[in-house]
Amino acid sequence: MNLFATISILLLTVSSISAQYCTAVCMTKFHRSIADITGIGSSETTTMLAPFHKIIANTEDNRSAHKQIRALCQRVKSWETCVRSCSRDSARAILLSSMEQWKKFCALMRKPTRASNEYLNCERDHQQEVSKHCDAYMPTTFTITVFCKSLEKYRDCSDRYMHRCSDEAFLVKKAIDDAIQHSFAKVLKFATNRIRLPQR
Ligand SMILES: *[C@@H]1O[C@H](CO)[C@@H](O)[C@H](O)[C@H]1NC(C)=O
Repeated sequence: MNLFATISILLLTVSSISAQYCTAVCMTKFHRSIADITGIGSSETTTMLAPFHKIIANTEDNRSAHKQIRALCQRVKSWETCVRSCSRDSARAILLSSMEQWKKFCALMRKPTRASNEYLNCERDHQQEVSKHCDAYMPTTFTITVFCKSLEKYRDCSDRYMHRCSDEAFLVKKAIDDAIQHSFAKVLKFATNRIRLPQR
């Protein structure tokens, strides 16, 4: 669990309460493509929640990570086109804001550069450390406060396992983190009064 996950949880929730058929159809299609690319069943929530991190953690080398990321980024584009074709409502606005982090990630990872390879490499190590030591605990029923506290705890823990990134890779990482924060803040602004967190 991480910020990608948070956004995606918001997305899942938004799409499940979405009154609009159109945005719900776009989400279903998008989830199906994530399942296609990561090769993991669409019922496995964790993959749905953080597909890019899953790709990074699961791929053995930089080349196959880049390949899968590119494939997923194509689907992000189709997802955006799909959502933009829907009529304006808050679900559409939330989806478009949440997409910004994905688009930024895709822009940064479009080409295999030394920086992007180094980023993949140190993110992969980091993810493996974090998954060994940090618990993404979620109680069965929770409010947004509990959810945020739990997430914060997880982030504190994962921050303890510092990335051993090169300076270049760190810049990529920082740009991605900033995009996530920015996107998350926007989503929250739209969604605060509307969402109920899903129960696991
Ligand atoms: C990925 O790229 C980095 C930077 O070029 C390199 O140091 C690392 O060995 C590569 N890792 C894999 C698993 O391909």
